[in-house]
Amino acid sequence: VLTPVILAGGSGSRLWPLSRKLRPKQFLALNGAQTMLQQTLARLSGLVYGPPLIICNEEHRFLVAEQLRQADQLGASILLEPVGRNTAPAIALAAMMACDENGEDPLLLVLSADHLIEDVARFQAAVENAIPLAEQGYLVTFGVVPTRAETGYGYIQRGEGLLQGEKVKRFAEKPDADTAATYVASGEYYWNSGMFLFRASRYLEELAQHEPGIVQACQAAIQGLNKDFGFLRVDADAFEMSPNVSIDYAIMEKTDRAAVVPLEASWSDIGSWSSLWEVSEQDSQGNCRHGDVLTVETQRTLIRAESRLVATVGVEDLMIVETKDAVLVAHRDKAQLVKQVVERLEREG
Ligand code: GDD
Ligand code: MG
Repeated sequence: VLTPVILAGGSGSRLWPLSRKLRPKQFLALNGAQTMLQQTLARLSGLVYGPPLIICNEEHRFLVAEQLRQADQLGASILLEPVGRNTAPAIALAAMMACDENGEDPLLLVLSADHLIEDVARFQAAVENAIPLAEQGYLVTFGVVPTRAETGYGYIQRGEGLLQGEKVKRFAEKPDADTAATYVASGEYYWNSGMFLFRASRYLEELAQHEPGIVQACQAAIQGLNKDFGFLRVDADAFEMSPNVSIDYAIMEKTDRAAVVPLEASWSDIGSWSSLWEVSEQDSQGNCRHGDVLTVETQRTLIRAESRLVATVGVEDLMIVETKDAVLVAHRDKAQLVKQVVERLEREG
């Protein structure tokens, strides 16, 4: 039986001004009626799994509880982090909790709460293919065939063939643009989809070897675990001591027991407005529109109106996002820089 672990503690700053500190992207309905978190849970339906664990920041607890209630996911537990320490410590808490309960050592299916996957059946088939490998002790990743030299992803070089997939020869997190281009051209690399399957104890063994500081801090944090109105909390002082690092840098780049299973479903990480534009339905001019929008001679532009009419005339390749208190106008080629707006707002207030 799988234990889904859903990481929902990111800030989504490249999707400003819709994604805010109080409501980051994973809690927004960016495409359709369900939020990204709700879609992540819905995607599991049909697999055999135990109660999911959602890990998020303390300040989003009511948002998460409400979204779970709406989606009829009352079996899920919510673990709150007092501060974000990135994904390696978050998964460590999940693994420790999973191992503790009645001496079991389940397979953890670690999912991001901000992915779009169109073909659910193929996602589930990939998970089924990964199970025997995880049972043999591999840390299994799900590889996506790259279509561009994206620098926001991890890259996985395929190695020796296994029954259902391959060993990972090399894992490179977020390479620079030139390196990414070489990887894509070589045909030997997948993108890391950012989902993982492994035995809880195997993850903790690797962590003890490569990042003992995380194990120490998380063990101390878990000792202070308390349950209050359905929310699980760890000891804040102990958790704050943990190194701040993602699973990709902490474990995946270092372990020699990683495997990759291909994910043949159309997958994307809705990381920025341009990636949302790419995967959304476009009109005959290549515009992706949401809300009260009027366009004249406008091309390949994303326009999102939340509270007012937005009209565009004679522009192309822009991203225009209108909300009640802030408006973004950006070039589609500069989508990654939107997070600088957030950084400056935080600094300058
Ligand atoms: N609980 C918790 N705590 N969740 C977190 C934290 C944290 O401190 N930080 C991030 N998350 C969540 C995010 O909400 C997201 O669902 C997931 O963990 C991944 O974090 P991102 O910050 O979105 O990572 P990324 O997109 O830059 O990179 C990862 O995903 C890529 C694919 O989407 C890496 O795994 C890459 O290798 C991968 O290609
Ligand atoms: Mg992401």
